[in-house]
Amino acid sequence: MTQTGAQAINPILSLRGVSVDYRTKAGLVRAVADVSLDVAQGESLSIVGESGCGKSTLARAILQLPRPTAGAIAYQDNDLTTLSGAALRRLRPELQLVFQDPISSLNPRRRVRDIVAEPLDIWSIGTRAERAERVNKMLLAVGLDPDVYAGRRPAQMSGGQCQRVAIARALISGTKILLCDEAISSLDVSLRAQVINLIEDLKAEFGFALLFIAHDLAVVKNISDRVAVMYLGRVVELGNTDDIYADPAHPYTLGLLGAVRSIEMDQETTADVVPGEPPSPINPPSGCPFRTRCPFAQEICAEEIPRLRPIGAGGRTVACHFPLTGSDIASPVFADDA
Ligand SMILES: Nc1ncnc2c1ncn2[C@@H]1O[C@H](COP(=O)(O)OP(=O)(O)OP(=O)(O)O)[C@@H](O)[C@H]1O
Ligand code: SF4
Ligand SMILES: [Mg+2]
Repeated sequence: MTQTGAQAINPILSLRGVSVDYRTKAGLVRAVADVSLDVAQGESLSIVGESGCGKSTLARAILQLPRPTAGAIAYQDNDLTTLSGAALRRLRPELQLVFQDPISSLNPRRRVRDIVAEPLDIWSIGTRAERAERVNKMLLAVGLDPDVYAGRRPAQMSGGQCQRVAIARALISGTKILLCDEAISSLDVSLRAQVINLIEDLKAEFGFALLFIAHDLAVVKNISDRVAVMYLGRVVELGNTDDIYADPAHPYTLGLLGAVRSIEMDQETTADVVPGEPPSPINPPSGCPFRTRCPFAQEICAEEIPRLRPIGAGGRTVACHFPLTGSDIASPVFADDA
């Protein structure tokens, strides 16, 4: 049985045992493996992990792009994985995705007002006058004066402004769940905080739930109520953001936190503070997927996949046979090799 330990009160979205396989020439890639989690109404859940751990695939699976290979995804009272195409299209305005690269995600030939109005046009929402008014309001909400920007094309705007346009487009259709896939990664560091603040303000105004995807924990600290850490397609730790920062229970989370500390100390860093490379998802290790890089691995780690189970108070779950305690966290286990 899939162990969740990840329930939220009053969830708007519930994933149970979600897996996504890709058939490639080299073999079967299990990009997402048995993921179960809930997202509460109006909650902000961040998904973090190194490149290739399955974050984008998970986000796209929620939108049924493509449908997952296994598992159930409940959105309100619907299981998205079994809905007909027509029923799914009716819900699509409520589930929207913002991509990493704002410039290439916007049609270069269209003007901002048409780009933002696109979802309203596609789903025939409102009259022409109502649409125009909604576009103006939404541009104002994302901090772009419609008198100045509505007639521009993407090439006449900065990357940060384009990302504001992409966010406006994603929110205009009455969005209940906003998925941001590395939405600030391509922006200058100075712009990232601005866009994060903007998303937070919009969330307070419109009340959507936010699924915020990022490589490293530093980015998500201020924006998320909870964090899910992914490794090789699996969620390996899930809990309240403050608890995870103060007291990571999974060795991989501890490694990712090393990156956060370097950033806080103003060092040049990337998320590769955990030494070594993730194994291929075509040929994952037996037992715990992290065991080939884990300084705490024991025999059982090669034999048995650790399932997510509750640890401590606060609804935290961790998938590790030997979850960390305070003294493990204090010692610099990864630092010597990094
Ligand atoms: N269309 C595809 N066909 C085959 N394999 C794929 C496809 N898309 C993704 N993968 C593989 O699935 C795994 C997960 O990829 P995914 O893009 O979801 O990771 P990610 O966490 O979003 O990475 P990044 O941080 O680089 O965006 C990777 O091993 C990737 O190579
Ligand atoms: S289960 Fe074992 S190998 Fe995996 S993270 Fe925990 S201690 Fe490390
Ligand atoms: Mg991705």
